[in-house]
Amino acid sequence: MAAEATTDSRAQIVDQENGLPAFKLERYFAKWEFKAPYLLCCSDCEPVLLPELLSLMDPDSRTRWESLRLGYGETRGLPALVDEICTLYEGVRPDGVIVGAPQECIYLAMLALLTPGDHVVVTYPGYQSLFQVAESLGCQVDLWAVELGEDGSASFDVGKFQALLRPTTKLAVVNFPHNPTGVLLSRADWSLLMNACRGVGCYLFSDEMYRLLEFDPEARLPSAVDVYDKAITLSGLSKAFGLPGLRIGWLAVQPPCYPVLARVAELKDYTTICNAVPSEALALAALRARETLLRRNLDILRVNLHAVEAFMEEFGHVFQYRPPAAGSVAFPRLLAASAAKGDGKGEESVDVFCERLVTGCGVLLLPATVYGHELSAARGHFRIGLGRRDLPACLDALRGFLRGPQQAPLPPREQA
Ligand SMILES: Cc1ncc(COP(=O)(O)O)c(C=O)c1O
Repeated sequence: MAAEATTDSRAQIVDQENGLPAFKLERYFAKWEFKAPYLLCCSDCEPVLLPELLSLMDPDSRTRWESLRLGYGETRGLPALVDEICTLYEGVRPDGVIVGAPQECIYLAMLALLTPGDHVVVTYPGYQSLFQVAESLGCQVDLWAVELGEDGSASFDVGKFQALLRPTTKLAVVNFPHNPTGVLLSRADWSLLMNACRGVGCYLFSDEMYRLLEFDPEARLPSAVDVYDKAITLSGLSKAFGLPGLRIGWLAVQPPCYPVLARVAELKDYTTICNAVPSEALALAALRARETLLRRNLDILRVNLHAVEAFMEEFGHVFQYRPPAAGSVAFPRLLAASAAKGDGKGEESVDVFCERLVTGCGVLLLPATVYGHELSAARGHFRIGLGRRDLPACLDALRGFLRGPQQAPLPPREQA
């Protein structure tokens, strides 16, 4: 609710909160996710059914689940869950973990770390809260933008990251595997990035929500928290584990960042106080069964990668596609917007194409306009999700739309 023009201090607080603009991607999903039958742009892996997770429960998790007391939980998270989270890392101790919803963890970490005027460098385009919270706090935010090749490729130039850092930089925010491009840095670049942060002594917020979804296990990067003592790693169960409905994620840090975590815990009293205890009990079971869940999701991804590859070849006159290096999303490009439109009346922007698609045949894609990144939007990029089991049905619906009688193929448009 907008604050009225008044000197009432409570109203001013409300007004300041309104300084955070709408989260474009989340509003887009709010509009379509529960209406469109063919969700071809989700970033999570196939959501696990409750009976599926219950069937994977180890005896201890089952006992906990069946005797669960629905009281408040501990702010930092269920101790057994915190212990299990520590096993994901080389040297993280229970004092270095706090459990929260992933989005909440981003928000609270930014509030804990940043003050107005701080300099922040962030991968871009990206998940909006990764830069938006800093901007709304009055920080100076420099965007480390993706390099988009004419061939549809995407990469991040670590040299440019180094150039953006200043001796006074407070925080770098990175996200690899990257949403939406699927870029994963090489180990060499990852080390360079860490060294650059070490050189200026800034904090590093590493969003690793898509980690563990590397198609080549050799390509998996060490978690930032295991490499740099001023790193704050964000991870969670929403993407790689297929459990977004649990709303369980966590921050993991080394001792130099314990004060940051303590502040996050204080701030959490203003958001959720503690996590939903049924979610924590299920999260514990999921992490203990992680090999099975990750194998399940990587198997789905591999099948879908093949299907998308074949589809994109079939429609090579309409789309340009490069497979992601890791993760559950890819960022193809609508080449021939007018070919997809088929009326010969010139080009159509990618957001108009996506709107026409979802209203015409119920297939939901995510146009790059939602990320606010002008270059990728101008080039017609859109996100597809690779983690859902109904991807072949979504592709069939898209094929039907593109092959429809009104969809006569036209030559590709000029490349932007
Ligand atoms: C890169 C990234 N970080 C964080 C999140 C937030 O995760 P959640 O929706 O589970 O809070 C998302 C969700 O899409 C994401 O893509």
